[in-house]
Amino acid sequence: MGLHLLLLHVLLVTVVARAPAAHAWRKEGHYMVCKIAQSFLTSEASAAVTSLLPGWARGELAETCSWADDERRRYPWSGALHFADTPGDCQFFYDRDCHNTEGKKDMCVVGGINNYTAALMNSSAPSVDPTISLMFLAHFVGDVHQPLHCGNTDDYGGNTIIVYWYNTTTTNLHRVWDLDIIQKAMKDFYNDDLSIMTQVIMKNITEGWSDEEREWEACPSRTKTCADRYAMESAQLACDVAYAGVEQGSILGDDYFFSAVPVVQKRIAQGGVRLAAILNRIFGENSRPQSI
Ligand SMILES: *[C@@H]1O[C@H](CO)[C@@H](O)[C@H](O)[C@H]1NC(C)=O
Ligand SMILES: *[C@@H]1O[C@H](CO)[C@@H](O)[C@H](O)[C@H]1NC(C)=O
Ligand SMILES: *[C@@H]1O[C@H](CO)[C@@H](O)[C@H](O)[C@H]1NC(C)=O
Ligand SMILES: *[C@@H]1O[C@H](CO)[C@@H](O)[C@H](O)[C@H]1NC(C)=O
Repeated sequence: MGLHLLLLHVLLVTVVARAPAAHAWRKEGHYMVCKIAQSFLTSEASAAVTSLLPGWARGELAETCSWADDERRRYPWSGALHFADTPGDCQFFYDRDCHNTEGKKDMCVVGGINNYTAALMNSSAPSVDPTISLMFLAHFVGDVHQPLHCGNTDDYGGNTIIVYWYNTTTTNLHRVWDLDIIQKAMKDFYNDDLSIMTQVIMKNITEGWSDEEREWEACPSRTKTCADRYAMESAQLACDVAYAGVEQGSILGDDYFFSAVPVVQKRIAQGGVRLAAILNRIFGENSRPQSI
């Protein structure tokens, strides 16, 4: 038993360590976004979401929120839908920036969010499996909130900027934002416990951020999402915080971590609130929220 578990652990660690440079919050980030979102669903939306979840999710939306990364090889065209890089002017413009490397329009994270929102809203569109639409949507709403998903095209959203995390680990800037900041925050502030971190961030939505929360979820359009606004915010945060003072070979330590961690936690909160708002809009918003 013990040996099997150990072997499984070694296998998992090996797989994770050898995963290619990716454009996505790692599991922890996506898990928190979806965990927060599920708690902000109306009872009507919650029932609809639960009925669409695959059996292996055991009723937890958060369990499915890294599916889009895990299955990327199965859907090669979906790679472009995880991000929306820009020419480096700290802004996102749909017409200019939302395309894949072959120039195909709409193939970026904002296009993906709008696509799968429309697919779920349209109950007469049986061509797209609604379970798959839900899992893509939940993942991409997380992704668009990671500032380096709307980073510079030149450096692949920070993937080619090699940095040293606290002198000890060679990593790259994109990965610092996907993973290293979250893992250090978890260790230093939350007893290395993802559910504590999630709960503290979630609680702050009705406390520290209570005066901003309505604005986060506001979206005037009934048919489209406001994901282009979220991408614009990320592009600005990429310049103001993520790229700020960083060069090839930089050593990132406490100064960098303490400027980044409040941004990471806020983006996770915003991602959760907005994913819930999108799902509430799709599945009916006349019912009462469960827990706000
Ligand atoms: C929209 O969804 C369909 C079905 O999964 C997919 O083939 C298409 O590439 C998607 N387009 C965008 C922009 O997300
Ligand atoms: C809904 O889906 C059907 C079938 O794919 C399509 O013909 C129709 O145009 C869609 N309606 C909207 C409003 O997108
Ligand atoms: C809670 O909100 C306050 C006010 O915006 C913010 O400064 C703080 O970083 C937030 N705390 C967490 C854990 O995200
Ligand atoms: C990196 O290591 C050097 C030499 O050991 C040390 O002086 C410096 O404070 C370290 N920097 C960080 C950010 O940990």
